[in-house]
Amino acid sequence: MRIILCDNYEELSKKAAKLVASQITLKPDSVLGLATGSTPVGMYGKLADMCNSGELDFSEVKTFNLDEYYPIKKTNNQSYDYFMRENLFSKINIRDENIHIPNGEADDPEKECADYEKKIRESGGIDLQVLGIGRNGHIGFNEPDASLNSFTHLTKLTENTIKANSRFFRSADEVPRQALTMGIATILNAKKIVLLASGANKRKVVSELIGGGINTSVPATMLKTHPDVVLICDRESYSGARLGIDIGGTNIKTAIIDSDNTVVYKGEFKTGNTENEIITGIVETVAALRGSFDITTVGIGTPGIIKDGKVTAANLPFKGTPLESLIEEKTGLSVTVDNDANCAALGEVVFGNTKDCENIVLITLGTGVGGGIIMNRQILRSNNNMGEIGHFVIRAKNGRPCKCGQSGCWEQYCSMTAFTRDAKAMAKKNPDSILFGLMKDGTLTGEDIFNAMDSGCEVAKKVFDDYIRYLAIGINSLVNIFGPDAIVLAGGVTRQGEKLLEPLRQLIKSDVRIEISNLQNDAGALGAAML
Ligand code: GLP
Repeated sequence: MRIILCDNYEELSKKAAKLVASQITLKPDSVLGLATGSTPVGMYGKLADMCNSGELDFSEVKTFNLDEYYPIKKTNNQSYDYFMRENLFSKINIRDENIHIPNGEADDPEKECADYEKKIRESGGIDLQVLGIGRNGHIGFNEPDASLNSFTHLTKLTENTIKANSRFFRSADEVPRQALTMGIATILNAKKIVLLASGANKRKVVSELIGGGINTSVPATMLKTHPDVVLICDRESYSGARLGIDIGGTNIKTAIIDSDNTVVYKGEFKTGNTENEIITGIVETVAALRGSFDITTVGIGTPGIIKDGKVTAANLPFKGTPLESLIEEKTGLSVTVDNDANCAALGEVVFGNTKDCENIVLITLGTGVGGGIIMNRQILRSNNNMGEIGHFVIRAKNGRPCKCGQSGCWEQYCSMTAFTRDAKAMAKKNPDSILFGLMKDGTLTGEDIFNAMDSGCEVAKKVFDDYIRYLAIGINSLVNIFGPDAIVLAGGVTRQGEKLLEPLRQLIKSDVRIEISNLQNDAGALGAAML
């Protein structure tokens, strides 16, 4: 389930209307599943405006409403038939014969339900289903129950719903006790689902939906079994905190973000040595943090390859570890796992000094070269290990062998390992150089190279110039491929600031922004929280 968090009801209505509008634009004869309740009213208003301005055409659209009270006259101003005509159908160019609403006046409700289900099937099925959510977690009128009836059916309303919906009637006594509603299976058969939630009175149920498991006592959680569901909610309805976990070789970092996107907690603990130790460490930390924070989601960034939810990492005891389902099972929270560099890139675009950008490429210059690509503020990902930018070949002839099996990978020229290794080799060849004099126990640090340059060492300058040249070649290629607004650099060498950036900028062909990460090692946990 994807979550789109909006600042307020107005933004929620706009985003939902846009989503429905693009469905109709892409498929003018779309079959829409529609909902009543106060939540979609704003969205319907926007759709009507788009239709009146000529932006949107409903002439081929078919609609099926979720539910209707039973029994109720269509002319009753509390019927959903009346509601839909008032709020949408009378304002758009939809054809009357394309509108379907369960008939609250039907003599034989069972037959009405079976016919309704048949009509949905005959129309080719619902392309996009819009849903609201009841305070008790109902969708349509699928009330919490031990088992949920699958297809369109006649149902009894719970006391809770009668009370909640009595606000539209003169008194609770006037609320019909039954309803005709699409079933959970009808809803799940829709190709796409958009669920809307707004207002503080939905806070509890939204947090149960996001954070809890699949449970018939909160019928909306059934939506978690559908592959294409978007929850659009406003800040009043979603207050939960998000926990981000960044697994490193030595330490595991954590960060908690509240619903205002404020970082409310940062922590760290030792990475265990075995798969079991790492998982236990994470589960215990989550449990401890839940004592102080209302955590509803957990995002985890891990090194390695993630395929079909299973993690395999060279430097961690993960060999096809189903990390996501394991942590989910043990914490009962909703967990998402992604590659750590992807998480760091997401952290940069949400919290870093490129938060004004839509598209960025993060390059981490460390033991190796890694990174993540953000397009339209989302991680660019595939199920096939993408974003391994350290392993694109920048030197085809006589390229340095890489542990990945290729030769001439970028990481062999631009990692800190490569930088200091090159410096060491050059220093040994030039024993009179300042650089050689800075060697301790036969090793040099990145800082030594810059210190030598500051003291006028030509040998160090040559090492640095080569390094910068290779860095620029790689960045120019990434800019050509992805056209980002900014390139973000992270890793120890970036502590040098302008000493690194100034000469680098001279070699960059475009006017792309080059930034040094202001988050550095914190980016991973922050981004993981936002997964
Ligand atoms: C009714 C409808 C539901 C709707 C719910 C929430 O019970 N049957 O489809 O989602 O109300 O309504 P509101 O959006 O007013 O909170």
